[in-house]
Amino acid sequence: MKGIILAGGAGSRLYPLTLVASKQLQPVYDKPMIYHPLTTLIEGGIREICLVSTPIDLPRFRQLLGDGSRMGISIEYREQARPEGIAQAFLIAESFIGNDAVALILGDNIFHGADFASAFGHFERGATIFGYQVLDPERYGVVEFDGSGKAASIEEKPATPKSNYAVPGLYIYDNDVVAIVKNLKPSARGELEITAVNMEYLTRGTLRVEKLHRGMAWLDAGTSTSLHDASAYVQTIEKRTGIKVGCPEEAAYHRGFLSISQFEEIANAMPCCEYRSYLQSVVKQVGRTN
Ligand code: DAU
Repeated sequence: MKGIILAGGAGSRLYPLTLVASKQLQPVYDKPMIYHPLTTLIEGGIREICLVSTPIDLPRFRQLLGDGSRMGISIEYREQARPEGIAQAFLIAESFIGNDAVALILGDNIFHGADFASAFGHFERGATIFGYQVLDPERYGVVEFDGSGKAASIEEKPATPKSNYAVPGLYIYDNDVVAIVKNLKPSARGELEITAVNMEYLTRGTLRVEKLHRGMAWLDAGTSTSLHDASAYVQTIEKRTGIKVGCPEEAAYHRGFLSISQFEEIANAMPCCEYRSYLQSVVKQVGRTN
């Protein structure tokens, strides 16, 4: 399975922060926001990744992440000239997707405590999306379940939500998604809507919606308040456990994408900083347990 990280958009809700660096490059406590969705894909076992962003921001992502080899993965980059919808990512990345299935994750979505390895690894056909219970479903795509727990409807930002289950920004599709998006018409707000893609799979009877367990955290960091909340969350967990949240190098090591000596080399090559000390402490700890 391949992975796409969508990290474009106007970032207008975070203005003036986004005048000089895009939303997904803003710090969530001690790391750039983009490290979180990247880590989610790596933890799930995806090593071929395409990052889609604006022509202005793409060079900065390239500077940050390079070709991905530092994390034992490959990263390609594609431009989205204008923010014409989340689903447009599949058209922009068509040549990257080739004949494969694909997972799309939004660059401002943070998942903690969830394991998507089996959702990615066991995926066969159709679409798999997720449902997460929130207090304010009207801000999101909302999924309604029928009596047997199957998805009955999906609506984008409904004024009167039919359930409290929001659809987080992580979507898994078979290769049909490219053809489906090619047939979509832009919505009233001029975007190729991801919810329209999910509705098409629902109509075909091939949409699976997995409820995320309540012990895990899904945060989106798209507004100043939610960005601050996400930072506070990450800081709390890291201070309590001493384990970093959203650390792609560490995830790559645990996934077997980097050997211990590669991991150590990467840590040692960093300038003296807290992040480097953390990676070096992981190397030491692994050395002791091996
Ligand atoms: O966060 C999950 C929600 O994301 C879902 O529940 C909704 O169904 C889905 O539509 C989306 O809602 P948002 O209101 O968060 O969408 P937004 O337009 O803010 O875009 C989400 C991210 O994707 C944002 O970081 C910017 C990026 N983006 C968005 C568009 C429309 C792009 O890179 N290009 C685009 O064309």
